[in-house]
Amino acid sequence: MVCGSKKKSYLKSQNLKIFGQGKLNGIVQISGAKNSALVLLTASLLTNERIILENVPRLTDIEKMRNILENLGVNLIDKNNKLEIDSKNISIKELPYELVNGLRASFFCIGAILTKFGEAKVPLPGGCDIGSRPIDEHINGLEALGAEIIIEEGIVKAKIKRKKNKLHGTHIKLNFPSVGATETLIMAASLAEGRTIIENAAREPEIQDLCQMLNKMGARIYDAGKEKIIIDGVNKLGGCTHKVIPDRIEAGTFLIAAAATSSSITISPVIPHHLEAVINKLQESGSKINIKGNSITIIGKEIKGVDIYTAPFPGFPTDLQAPFTALMTIAKGESKITETIFENRMNHINLLKKMGASIKLNKNIAYIKGVQTIKGMDLVGSDLRSSAALIIAGIIAEGISKIYGLDHLDRGYENFESKLEKLGIKISREFNHKTFGGKSYKIETKSEEMSKFRAA
Ligand code: EPZ
Repeated sequence: MVCGSKKKSYLKSQNLKIFGQGKLNGIVQISGAKNSALVLLTASLLTNERIILENVPRLTDIEKMRNILENLGVNLIDKNNKLEIDSKNISIKELPYELVNGLRASFFCIGAILTKFGEAKVPLPGGCDIGSRPIDEHINGLEALGAEIIIEEGIVKAKIKRKKNKLHGTHIKLNFPSVGATETLIMAASLAEGRTIIENAAREPEIQDLCQMLNKMGARIYDAGKEKIIIDGVNKLGGCTHKVIPDRIEAGTFLIAAAATSSSITISPVIPHHLEAVINKLQESGSKINIKGNSITIIGKEIKGVDIYTAPFPGFPTDLQAPFTALMTIAKGESKITETIFENRMNHINLLKKMGASIKLNKNIAYIKGVQTIKGMDLVGSDLRSSAALIIAGIIAEGISKIYGLDHLDRGYENFESKLEKLGIKISREFNHKTFGGKSYKIETKSEEMSKFRAA
């Protein structure tokens, strides 16, 4: 019996088979940050000159964003984790629905395309499993910068009004420090006329990475990472070479997996202050953590229950709430997990309860009583980070677990199971040979075949 499954997805997706009660040991290489690479790819639309992006993770979300850019006429040369991007021949200012629908981050293109070409048409990004994902902060900010925006048949149509060919700088105060809205507006303001101030801006490291690259391209952006960002628009942006920052969420996921198995591992490269809130909570719950340059070593000890409350950076990241919840299921004592960023990001709770965790859920607050152990079983992840949480639970659990819904996982974790395998976990990816509605699926046994099956 598979829990959390919509029967169809169980039958036709790959799964990870995990032998529980594993231990991690060794060093794990952290990939480039998905949520930085995605917006940096968008920012490449702002120049006619060549952008070279290094340390780009190989993920399905990145492949989707590449498809969207290529559809606009961008030329991309893929040199493994390095991308050469040439946007001088962009011909289309409209993003196709079928490509945008699967990747919310593609909506952030609207600011870059509008400010560079004077108009942009981008389909409304759908909601997803974790929430409705509105875009009002993006729209309000672009209108404040001088855009005329109408939404027709699900398409956001934006153009620069008053027949001017540039947006104009202005003072914007966000109601919520939205990461995406801050990124959209920084890109739009980078080529606007005059100064833009964004108050209550998001402070995430990915915003700082974006501003660093834009400034290399000739932008004039000050105080990225603070609540008030200043952008003095320029006439033109040039090319540059930029290395994507390490993925703090992947790094945090591995630290949590080590804490959950009382293991000792080293993760590198990381930027330690990007993980401060997570490190503090892991130390509070009993793990020992040593920081040395761009490496972090965790020595997992007996874990005790601690409370977490997700918040915009530098608070505890919502993207690590589900993995940390998995850790708390076997902590000594009680813990309280409060999700404040997304309205529906507790889908993993019921699945952890089926494995034997003792959790009471009241809206977005989970009250956990640690148990001795949980039981392995077949489960389906419903979003990127809940899938990671289920894998951590499978590593903790007694017995074997099979985790389905890997299309979510492959969006945000590069070679996740091979990294875990190298750390000593017995885990493998299985491609199910199932006839389903008369259609049969290929049998592939080894994970090295996986790349052939990655979503386009
Ligand atoms: C980014 O999403 C990340 N995605 C998310 O990572 C991350 O969870 C989130 O920031 C918060 O840190 C990318 O960078 C591609 P938000 P984003 O706008 O920009 C409300 C992952 O797992 N809001 O900061 O969409 C919204 O409803 C993904 O890697 C508005 O009300 O997040 C939510 O409650 C998941 N109006 C809150 O703000 C708006 O116009 C945070 O959203 C925009 C957002």
